[in-house]
Amino acid sequence: MKIGILTGGGDCPGLNAVIRGVVKTACVKYKWEVIGIESGFEGLILDGHVRELNPWRIRGILPAGGTILWSSNKGDPFNYSVEENGSIIKKDLSDKAMEKFKNIGLDALVVVGGDGTMAIANKFFKKGMPVVGVPKTIDNDLMATDFTFGFSTAVETATYALDKLHTTAASHKRVIVVEVMGRYVGWIALCSGIAGGADCILVPEIPFDIDKVCKHVMRRAKEGSAFSIIVVSEGAKQLGGHVTVKGVDKKSGVELLGGIGDRVGRMVAEKTGLDVRVTVLGHIQRGGGPISFDRILSTRFGVEAVELIKHGRYGHMVCLKGQEISAVTLDDAISKQKSVDPNGSLVRTAEAIGVCMGR
Ligand code: F6P
Repeated sequence: MKIGILTGGGDCPGLNAVIRGVVKTACVKYKWEVIGIESGFEGLILDGHVRELNPWRIRGILPAGGTILWSSNKGDPFNYSVEENGSIIKKDLSDKAMEKFKNIGLDALVVVGGDGTMAIANKFFKKGMPVVGVPKTIDNDLMATDFTFGFSTAVETATYALDKLHTTAASHKRVIVVEVMGRYVGWIALCSGIAGGADCILVPEIPFDIDKVCKHVMRRAKEGSAFSIIVVSEGAKQLGGHVTVKGVDKKSGVELLGGIGDRVGRMVAEKTGLDVRVTVLGHIQRGGGPISFDRILSTRFGVEAVELIKHGRYGHMVCLKGQEISAVTLDDAISKQKSVDPNGSLVRTAEAIGVCMGR
């Protein structure tokens, strides 16, 4: 057997650990060959962009951030941007990718990515390519798996930032608003907010009332806590409002969220008169090496992806259900987004300890 592996979409901590799990299981346990496809699906369209992987070539990558295969969220072969006569047009180059897959002599492909990448993998599966998926994203927004790898590391990074921001906020008696990633779901904000002792946590699933947020901050000030930490998910919105968008990615057309931290900061400053500062954590949450939970999850996912191929279970994505690794069809994997339940246990935990969720 000769299998390929690619990493698509935005990077996230744990991608290299998945690659390592796949290469070791395929090469050592089953004596297969592994080919790395570079820059996501784009590597199946462009010339070159392939390299042999073996246990020697992946030495030392377990703790490394990013992906040794590089990634791209702009190379959807079904909707590929090409320049013709000076203007950019979209073309379906999926047949070209199918051809390259055959020419390299691949028997199967492991696709590591988020919902967008899984949707492309599913289209290739339906065209006859034997693919299996591995779910990745710091947003943790895939219903099919209890956790995606990368999420816990992002939460750890945000929590560490909150610890640091606490000391400076307390020293200056300031309100610090911290904008975290997560796209349209509030998992990073909610989990890091609880772990980092935030006073307010604003998530997309609970449109916030700014007056309630200000009241909470003022009450804290009156009771002797002269500082407050407000964690805002980038997708959070005011009651009756919309998400704050800072632009659109030119090539992929994907909405780029951001700016809600500044808006909340301005409103809190105006309404309370307190000294307010805003910090946007940004891509720091995606960078760096994975924490041990993500190293273990990534390794388990990588091993299981090879087992899916061994047993011919193409068109499936590995997932975590409780403590067990299993698999779901790619159709199921991309069908539902996993959002924070506004009345679920985590939100109730936060509110029970006095955190204002903006309602
Ligand atoms: O999906 C992961 C994520 O980091 C989101 O949390 C964020 O909104 C987005 O990607 C940022 O994308 P980009 O790297 O294209 O700016």
